Amino acid sequence: MFDTRLKDAASHVQAHLDHVLCELDDLPVVQAMRYASAGGKRLRAFLVLESARLHNISPDQAIWAAAAVEALHAYSLVHDDLPCMDDDDMRRGLPTVHVKWDQATAVLAGDALQTLAFELLARSEVSPDPVVRAELVLTLARASGAAGMVKGQALDIAAETADQPLTLEQITELQAGKTGALIEWSAIAGAILAGADPAALSIYAQKLGLAFQIWDDVLDVEGDADTVGKAVGKDADAGKATFVSLLGLEAAKQRATDLVTEAEAALESYGPEAEALRQVARFVVSRHS
Ligand code: IPE
Ligand code: IPE
Ligand code: MG
Ligand code: MG
Ligand code: MG
Repeated sequence: MFDTRLKDAASHVQAHLDHVLCELDDLPVVQAMRYASAGGKRLRAFLVLESARLHNISPDQAIWAAAAVEALHAYSLVHDDLPCMDDDDMRRGLPTVHVKWDQATAVLAGDALQTLAFELLARSEVSPDPVVRAELVLTLARASGAAGMVKGQALDIAAETADQPLTLEQITELQAGKTGALIEWSAIAGAILAGADPAALSIYAQKLGLAFQIWDDVLDVEGDADTVGKAVGKDADAGKATFVSLLGLEAAKQRATDLVTEAEAALESYGPEAEALRQVARFVVSRHS
């Protein structure tokens, strides 16, 4: 069952992050790191674990990369919610880090979650081959930085005050960075761990990442805050550039569904073994949170 598999992946990565974070001093910044890295759907961890499974990498080995990407994702959310970014008070159904602590703690907890991600990938447990560990670090750095997630976030913020609405091409580039890059890294991590060709998983994940962000934008319009676990109705108010703002709700949903079909098709060479990755793609465009 897909639901059980996603829940199992979530508890595995939670236990791993708890274990890693309990080694640190019990300072407020560390408490904030624990708080920020708890909960969530764990979609990125699931992609790492499933792509690893496809390549016969054990969960005990892949869990390091799964925890790394969830730490990095948690950092991106803590900073995304700051008053100077999206100014959000609720995340995963709880007060955001800067509301529960303060802005300085939120900035620092985000910083430390980011460096923790790279520390986890560099550890010897990740792979006996240091070249594989270096490749994971290199690719995650590229996916997270000014050519990846940070680029997308910067374009997202700039679009709020742009003179003209962004084109479809510009929104696609923005979303490929802010959301797509980490999702793509998660889906290719298993291939990198195995020294295998990540091309098919890359195509799958590019489609999936876009569908994922379109659905996030749909939930901002259609969802209710209690279910989604964060404030809704904020994108239009903030003047965000989204597929929904450009195409309207129905066309955006159709685009997301089409992308999922394309994502599934990209997995053809993996055969039935990739069923969980096909299921997670369908989940992405039917989820309520
Ligand atoms: C939210 O990501 C931020 C985006 C990139 C759209 P998720 O919807 O994966 O958040 P969690 O981890 O489940 O809370
Ligand atoms: C956030 O996108 C993406 C990253 C944190 C990199 P959003 O701003 O749309 O995410 P939510 O809606 O606040 O979760
Ligand atoms: Mg944002
Ligand atoms: Mg936001
Ligand atoms: Mg959003």
